Amino acid sequence: MDRGCSLGSPIVGLDSRYLLAGGWAGPCGWALRAGMSDPRSFSAHERSPVKSIQLATRLALLLLIGGELLMVQWASLASRGSGLTVSEGVVFAGLVGVLNLVAFSLARPRIRAQGLALVLARGWILGSVAALFTGLGLALAWVMLGVLVVVARSGVEVSPEQIRVGLVVTGGLALLMGFGASLWGFTWGQRRVRIDRVDLPVTGLPVALSDLNLVQISDLHIGPLLPPEELRGMVDRVNALGADLVLITGDVFDFDPAYVEAGCRELGRLSATHGVFAVLGNHDVYTGAEQVVASLRANSAIRVLRDEWERLDVGGESLCIAGLEDRGVGWTERDSESTELERLAQEIPESLPTVLLVHRPAFFAQAAALGFDVALTGHTHGGQLSLPGLKHHNPSRLVSRWTRGRFEQGGCVLYVNRGLGVAGLPLRFNCPREISWIRLVPREGSEALP
Ligand SMILES: [Fe+2]
Repeated sequence: MDRGCSLGSPIVGLDSRYLLAGGWAGPCGWALRAGMSDPRSFSAHERSPVKSIQLATRLALLLLIGGELLMVQWASLASRGSGLTVSEGVVFAGLVGVLNLVAFSLARPRIRAQGLALVLARGWILGSVAALFTGLGLALAWVMLGVLVVVARSGVEVSPEQIRVGLVVTGGLALLMGFGASLWGFTWGQRRVRIDRVDLPVTGLPVALSDLNLVQISDLHIGPLLPPEELRGMVDRVNALGADLVLITGDVFDFDPAYVEAGCRELGRLSATHGVFAVLGNHDVYTGAEQVVASLRANSAIRVLRDEWERLDVGGESLCIAGLEDRGVGWTERDSESTELERLAQEIPESLPTVLLVHRPAFFAQAAALGFDVALTGHTHGGQLSLPGLKHHNPSRLVSRWTRGRFEQGGCVLYVNRGLGVAGLPLRFNCPREISWIRLVPREGSEALP
């Protein structure tokens, strides 16, 4: 491996409340006020991830208030036949603003409570996400209607009553679509598990390794949102793929140690010809890293790589699996570097193809510079909500350049798994849970070794 890479800075520690409290750095990524600090200094043209999320949250709250006001306006048009007066608008804006700020401060500390408090807190957040998207849809629909009216008025007479009916009908459709999409994301959308076929190119890959059948799972978040009994069907689906290797890239547990033993027993059913390997993620640290590792060792044959690597013999060829353990700090960090990763690169013989397991994609640039061939990661959950389209724009872009799918840099290929569970909010839209079914293939233009 290339030994020329020098490490610029130590691992940066930020308070990691994001997934614990809000679950996703989304339009309602409200958890940023949960006491995060950002000790890293950023230049004038470079904004820290924490600051980006703080800005996004303020913007989200403003959009939420605006969206809710538009909904009140629609209700007024539909029920009274006229919109809000200026004074009514001011009163409602103040009311909606105060209610949201109060609900925000009440819900934030209760996201990990039990029982009714948890249900109410999550219910408010989910309702807010739905209201925010619905408000945006409503604004878009009314702007389009306005353009249509302006164009139509050049040829025909359009009465105020026709405009009111148009506002009510288009607004009603936007409401239906906004809340419908949110309901879908909360029910069917977040339950879908998709098996994604993934080819990862490796330079000079020995032929024996190109037949390897790898399965990656990540971010299970076993806990209240994925109890062990629900995990059973997912384990069955992984086992049905007949993997040579199963690779788990962290956040096995969410935050509650009460789920660890039963979860580990269920994971103990995972089977693969050459074994099951895992690294810990930040949520495993929140749950209790030592308890998770001890239970995995006691209840399964899963090999937890804690800044370690192993050499496997596959059909007479060698493949190295290396694992970097998450420290559980600095969830918003980008372009992370680790002295442990540098040490692993020095220890692993340069000639051996190596798959690196690391929870966060933030280490990709360093892994590429150090000469790793493949880096498998998770952490972002693909944002859990993403816009349609090839680029999959999603909220986790606030914390990572690499939010889902395959990326290449130098001779290293990164894969970011969307996660098998959910964090914070049981909500997914255009971002199903994922089991990655991976094949290593010779990189184009490079010789496959016989
Ligand atoms: Fe996660």
